[in-house]
Amino acid sequence: MATLRVLFETGEPEQVIEFDPADAPFQDDGQPGSILDVLLGHQVVLEHACGGHCACTTCHVIVKAGEEYLSESEESEEDMLDRAPGLTPSSRLGCQAVIEAGQITVLIPRYTINQQV
Ligand code: FES
Repeated sequence: MATLRVLFETGEPEQVIEFDPADAPFQDDGQPGSILDVLLGHQVVLEHACGGHCACTTCHVIVKAGEEYLSESEESEEDMLDRAPGLTPSSRLGCQAVIEAGQITVLIPRYTINQQV
């Protein structure tokens, strides 16, 4: 089992999702078992303008805890993340970071490129 705790910079109440990574994919967008997949599959909205294909930055999240339980980031993810507003050393693309187990906490930033344009 794994736990994904979601904080919102907009001030919405936090959400806690408990799930079995072996049940992934939960829906069709993003890597199976990714943060995006888990969120959308549990009715938590995360923007994903490119449909989870590592071609935008709207699914940008900041990992607050449990980074060690996520898949390693690929070069393509890091290249795309360089364009994300509010980039931090613990930023990930929600559609590419796959949850392998454990307890993870992410913050969904207030702004994405979609909201800034
Ligand atoms: S949804 Fe576009 S990069 Fe993740």
